[in-house]
Amino acid sequence: MCAMAALSTLLLRGPALLRLCPRLPAARTYAAGGDFEYIIAEKKGKNNNVGLVQLNRPKALNALCQGLIKELNQALMTFQKDPSVGAIVLTGSEKSFAAGADIKELRDKTLQSCYSDNFLKDWDTLSHIKKPVIAAVNGFALGGGCELAMMCDIVYAGEKAQFGQPEILIGTIPGSGGTQRLTRVVGKSLAMEMVLTGDRISAQEAKQAGLVSKIFPVEKLVEEAIQCAEKIASNSKIVTEMAKEAVNAAFEMTLAEGIRLEKKLFYSTFATDDQKEGVSAFVEKRKANFKDK
Ligand code: HXC
Repeated sequence: MCAMAALSTLLLRGPALLRLCPRLPAARTYAAGGDFEYIIAEKKGKNNNVGLVQLNRPKALNALCQGLIKELNQALMTFQKDPSVGAIVLTGSEKSFAAGADIKELRDKTLQSCYSDNFLKDWDTLSHIKKPVIAAVNGFALGGGCELAMMCDIVYAGEKAQFGQPEILIGTIPGSGGTQRLTRVVGKSLAMEMVLTGDRISAQEAKQAGLVSKIFPVEKLVEEAIQCAEKIASNSKIVTEMAKEAVNAAFEMTLAEGIRLEKKLFYSTFATDDQKEGVSAFVEKRKANFKDK
């Protein structure tokens, strides 16, 4: 069974635990079988409406090898297509969210091979997912790991998280949006300092700089991220996607263009049943029952 089919089947079976590791010893292979070696994907929340992706390559501190990126994208696309999922949480381990691109895989690459093979073509799928994605960052978020976190819509951090763009220390630069997203979020001086020295910042510094919205004790982080995702998933999914699109436009458009887009999306919400339901529920003093239409 291909990874996508296996994941879809399991997701439809309800509170699925997807630990799919065919290339690992049998003891580590989930009974349902399947194809994931580097991630765990499961549905969470009281209403089973949150997709949780956990990066699971502990021996390499979740270094982002091409296989992991492929599996991450498969899980994200499956959750994007699953109508019961309203938000996604992306996390790693308590020690490491992700330690960056797999440096061992970078060793033999050349300009020619990167360019011809379009090496980074699969690295920004996360930034095109329409459902909200919350990064729950414990431990290291370095290089491509920090870049992945910044592609998410909300970043929560554990108290001991560390963020950094240390590519300069191995003779390269961020390649998956680090110089752009970090600069937009934390400003030029701190972004330059991080990119040019490779120094890391703590969760507390990241929060102060606006990279992180909330900090939690290490062991509470994922639970808190899931609770936030459940809150988001309880709203209208279609209107939530419009809200996400409007906020993201602030990073890509001029103020005038962004405001025009916001107005169009605002008007568009009036074409949904959910907007009618939300407004009626308020007036009738009852809880809204959104149908995602
Ligand atoms: C491959 C990695 C790795 C990485 C850690 N490991 N990071 N393998 N790629 N990015 C492996 C180590 O080789 C080692 O495996 C094991 O994980 C544990 O790592 P240690 O270094 O022994 O652990 P520790 O002393 O705790 O130090 C942790 C660390 C350090 C600070 C995170 O590992 C580190 O600096 N890693 C590299 C971080 C980095 O430079 N990231 C940016 C990569 S470039 P073995 O088997 O050897 O014991 C990048 C570009 C993105 O991300 C652009 C888009 C693609």
